[in-house]
Amino acid sequence: MLRQTGIHSSEDARRLARKRLPWMVFDYVDGAAGEEHGAMLARRAIQDIRLTPRVLRNVSRRELRVQLFDKLAVRPFGISPMGMCNLSAPDADLMLARLAARDRVPHGVSTVASTDMETLLKASGGMAWFQLYFSGDGSGTMKLVERARAAGYGTLVLTVDVPEVGRRPRELRHGFKMPFRIGPRQFVDFALHPRWSLSTLIRGRPQMANFDGRNYVFDRTESRAAADWTTFETLRATWPGKLVVKGVLHPGDALRLKALGADAIQVSSHGCRQLDAAPPAIEALAAIRQAVGPSYPLFYDSGIRSGEDVVKAYAMGADFVFLGRPLLYAMAAGGEAGLHQLWEVLAQEVSLTLAQLGLTEMAALREGAAR
Ligand SMILES: Cc1cc2nc3c(=O)[nH]c(=O)nc-3n(C[C@H](O)[C@H](O)[C@H](O)COP(=O)(O)O)c2cc1C
Repeated sequence: MLRQTGIHSSEDARRLARKRLPWMVFDYVDGAAGEEHGAMLARRAIQDIRLTPRVLRNVSRRELRVQLFDKLAVRPFGISPMGMCNLSAPDADLMLARLAARDRVPHGVSTVASTDMETLLKASGGMAWFQLYFSGDGSGTMKLVERARAAGYGTLVLTVDVPEVGRRPRELRHGFKMPFRIGPRQFVDFALHPRWSLSTLIRGRPQMANFDGRNYVFDRTESRAAADWTTFETLRATWPGKLVVKGVLHPGDALRLKALGADAIQVSSHGCRQLDAAPPAIEALAAIRQAVGPSYPLFYDSGIRSGEDVVKAYAMGADFVFLGRPLLYAMAAGGEAGLHQLWEVLAQEVSLTLAQLGLTEMAALREGAAR
């Protein structure tokens, strides 16, 4: 039996998370680049998409499973890679991994995850995808690639939209750094959020676990600007598994990546955490789908907050959709039960939306059935 957590929407989860998390952590998760105007526009672009109901089509049997590479995902949405998830709740990374294992959906494991990549691959029952940041001169990066291969990862997600870490004023105001320092300001913040502090700090501050006690280090703020097309070609030549490129918004870049052998592109504005002026990613998705043709694998993340939003992204051309912040809000709000509650809400919303549209499967959305 699922413990009731009061989560009936991702906004419920966000509201509860805001109460429970220290300001520093909430703003690290919730914040976006610059004035956050881009984040607002990105949400509005998704909200403004209309889907037209169709009637009398017998939609009593609806299928949420979708084919993703060589696997059948039980849900049409998965877990986007996020750094330092354990700040939202102790063992958040493991909760996500277990969910991925249960529902056979991909679990993006960040370069700066708070649990090491080997543990998460195991806990996810092999569903983890390793997300790679190129950084510095690339030597540490290639060691990580080798380590992911040795661990048994089959899919690598190269994130390309962080040439430099975006300026997120809310995060900067609280002095958020990894590993974080507990100065007077943070002390007051943590003291005012004892539930989080008792459960999280007592377990030891979350760390960037892929770098613990290893012979290479990762500075979150180090420039990642040296990556170029040759970097991608080298990686493609080196990595034998699936290679997904995350953070593409321009059709020209998408076409070039497709030509150079990327197995899929994840259209994303990084949840508008990088460039306030970025176009709404959902609009970029439609343009990129147009450019790459109907059969090239396109994934989507950024601003998805409900099952209706998931359906909209499929209608705009996605083959699979990933969620970011809402999953962290849910775990901050109610731990593993909160995560499962929100996950179930999303699945129900997708199913109900399909019913409204007179559809019984996600693939029909790609045929323009909803518009
Ligand atoms: C707290 C946080 C940490 C993130 N860390 C990473 C990361 O390490 N690597 C990465 O590729 N994307 C990272 N992202 C971006 C997400 O993968 C995803 O693109 C974004 O959150 C999707 O937007 P949404 O939060 O509106 O769903 C992070 C996002 C958040 C909120």
